[in-house]
Amino acid sequence: MKAIILSGGKGTRLRPLTYSGAKQLVPVANKPILFYCIDNIVRAGIKDIGIIISPETGQEIRDAVGDGSRWGIGIKYIIQDMPGGLAHAIRTARDFLADSSFVMYLGDNLIGAGIEKFVDEFNRNKPEALILLKEVENPKQFGVAEISKEGRVIRLIEKPDVPPSNLALVGIYIFSRAIHDAIERIKPSKRGELEITDAIQELIVMDRNVESFVLDMWWLDTGKKDDMLTANAIVLDEWLKENIEASVDERSNILGRVSIGSGSIIKASKIRGPVVIGENSVIENSFIGPYTSIGNNVKVTGSSVEHSVIMDESELKDLERLEESLIGRRVKITKNHTTHKALRLMLGDDSMVEV
Ligand code: TTP
Repeated sequence: MKAIILSGGKGTRLRPLTYSGAKQLVPVANKPILFYCIDNIVRAGIKDIGIIISPETGQEIRDAVGDGSRWGIGIKYIIQDMPGGLAHAIRTARDFLADSSFVMYLGDNLIGAGIEKFVDEFNRNKPEALILLKEVENPKQFGVAEISKEGRVIRLIEKPDVPPSNLALVGIYIFSRAIHDAIERIKPSKRGELEITDAIQELIVMDRNVESFVLDMWWLDTGKKDDMLTANAIVLDEWLKENIEASVDERSNILGRVSIGSGSIIKASKIRGPVVIGENSVIENSFIGPYTSIGNNVKVTGSSVEHSVIMDESELKDLERLEESLIGRRVKITKNHTTHKALRLMLGDDSMVEV
C-alpha cells in the first residue's frame, strides 16, 4: 500500500498566516501538522509516500520535510499545478500511485490515534474505498454520509441543508485502484473542483463496495484559527512529555507538564503546564498559562499568555493578558499603557501591533 498526503490548496481560511507559508507547516505543540500525518502513515507500516504540493508553497514543504530519511523512508513530491480539488490531486498522483491501493491523508487533519486499524480493516475486507466518519454537532458544515445498518455507504452529500446523519467525512481515506475510474467519470462541481465526495458517490453508483468506519477518537481539521488552538490544546494535553533543558532561575516556578528547549532562559516567571517552549527563547517576569506553545527565539517580558500559539522570533512585551491568540512569526506586540482588557488576536507574519 502507498500513501499520498495533500499539502497543496489555497489555505484561505488561515490567512494571513498562509500568505507567507503553507498551512500544513503551521505548528501544533511546536511541530508542523504535516509531521503528525507522516508519523501516522509510517506507523501503519507504509513506506511509499507521495506529498502533493502546490507551485507556491511546495519548496517550503520540501525544505521542512526533506527526503524522508528522518522517518527512515523515501518521500516523493508531486506538483499539482492548481488547487483543482481532492480528486484532481489523486489524478495528478496517478503515475506515482500506479495500480496500488493507497491512503489519502489531508495534510491539515489530525486524529487522536494511529491509522493501523483502518489499514488492517481495508486489507481484510478489500472494499474499493474505506472512509472514516466522525459524529459532529454541526453536520451542515461538512461532507456527510448516509449509511445502512450494515455500515455500507449509501450516499454522500457535501454541506447538506438537511443532513441525513451527523456523520462527517474525516480527511483520511483508503482507496483501491477503482477510484481512478470513478474520477474519470465525474465532472467539476459548482466551485470548479473535482470533488472526492463525487468520486466516492460515483463508486457507489457503480455498485462498488464503499465501507465506513466511525472514529471513536478526536479529529480536528486545522483549517481555521479556533481549530488550530483546539488542536494545540488537545495535543499538549495528551502527548506532551515533560522535558526541561532550559536555564530556570530560582525566582521562577514551573508546575505541571512543561517542555522547554535548550538555550532558553526563564527568569522570574511562572509557567503552568501543559506548555511547550522551543529553543533560545527568553521568558522574563511573565506568566505562561496552560495550553500555550511558544516557538524558538521568542521573547516574552512582563506579560501573561494563555491558551495561545506564539511562533518563532516573535516578541511580546507588557501585555496584561493575551488569550486564545494565534501569532505568526516575527510579530511584535507591545503595550501602550492605556487599556486593561484581554486581547484576542490573529496576526500574520511580520505584523506589528501596539495596544
Ligand atoms: P481544504 O482545506 O479543503 O482547502 P484549502 O487548503 O484550499 O483551504 P481553504 O478552504 O482555507 O482555502 O484542503 C484540504 C487539504 O488538501 C489541505 O491540506 C490542502 C489540500 N489540497 C490539495 O493538496 N489540493 C487541492 O486541490 C485542494 C483543494 C486541497
